[in-house]
Amino acid sequence: MLNALAEQPPDKILALMAAFAADPRAAKIDLGVGVYKDATGQTPVMRAVKAAERRLVADQTTKTYTGLAGDPAFAEALSLLVLGPATPADRLAMAATPGGTGAIRQGLELMRMAAPEATLWLSDPTWPNHPAIAKYLGIPVRTYRYFDAEAGAVDWDGMMADLGGAAPGDVVMLHGCCHNPTGADLTRDQWRDVAELCVARGLIPFVDIAYQGFGDGLEADAAGLRELVARVPEALIGASCSKNFGIYRERTGLLMALAPSPARLGIVQGALASLNRLNFSFPPDHGARVVQTILTDDALRADWKAELEAVRTGMRELREQLALALRERTGSDRFGFLAAHRGMFSLLGASPAQVEAMRRDHGVYMVGDSRTNIAGLNRETVPVLADAIVAAGV
Ligand code: LMR
Repeated sequence: MLNALAEQPPDKILALMAAFAADPRAAKIDLGVGVYKDATGQTPVMRAVKAAERRLVADQTTKTYTGLAGDPAFAEALSLLVLGPATPADRLAMAATPGGTGAIRQGLELMRMAAPEATLWLSDPTWPNHPAIAKYLGIPVRTYRYFDAEAGAVDWDGMMADLGGAAPGDVVMLHGCCHNPTGADLTRDQWRDVAELCVARGLIPFVDIAYQGFGDGLEADAAGLRELVARVPEALIGASCSKNFGIYRERTGLLMALAPSPARLGIVQGALASLNRLNFSFPPDHGARVVQTILTDDALRADWKAELEAVRTGMRELREQLALALRERTGSDRFGFLAAHRGMFSLLGASPAQVEAMRRDHGVYMVGDSRTNIAGLNRETVPVLADAIVAAGV
């Protein structure tokens, strides 16, 4: 059997992680995988997470199974953070998942179960695991224009034109905030227009929100998604706690499915529980419990928000420093988009050869499409990257 296995294509982000680790140069800079790093290059455990974990160790009385959809208290706390108090709880089915990737996977499985003929529309470009999972599940995929590389901004006209060609029942994947890999987000008005398009054409939005709190703040980053949820009859939302709680390896995520009516809620909730059972049975609980503990305790929540805010403003400052360093070196505002983008990522606009040259000559590691993790920088490495960009002729 195993002799018949074909080699699987490597994930380009994870392959880059391995290449970085294998590079013996001391001065190398990792701008690859989407992990936050502080000024010393560490990915710290957040203070509130440590405190919640201490509390769990002291107070937890059992490790027996939770429910197939995880503990409802976690789902309730996280859905409130993402969707806010106006969420129609009587239409919202929810299941805890192993990370945001698990939420995407389970959401796509739900799509395939409910509408095997439907097409999934992905932004061009998008996180490479979106098309990879869809392909593995046999879901037909089409792309919509999203990014105007010249302007370093959303190609709004292209996006709307392409989605205008989607068929009723198709699913449209959107990034809730901090678009990965471009860093270019929709405005609140544009979210409303997307919602109207979905309603008019019978499209189902699937929002991947993995970076809430990394862009303009916890509330602002979810504002567009909330506009959408208030308008559409059905939606899927995959939320990740990996980045904003810094609990990457705990695999903590939530799939939310907005049912068209309260009468359908039980069926949808049952499908989510069943898909969890079929794929991994009970979802991981430790990270979910940490998140729930933080979100439902005033002091821990305030401390978490303060630390997250410092992470967010630190990334904003790095964006501005890099844009300024490039303005000084190039004498132009060509890289001004770096300061305008939000979240961890921006596409620099470098060719694969230029990305390779930066890696070879300067030890700067970014994804081959020139996606740059701004959080991998610090004050000292901003000028190194700026020099590398100029030397590579980007
Ligand atoms: C990324 O895009 O780098 C992150 O979402 C990590 C991952 O799993 O790819």
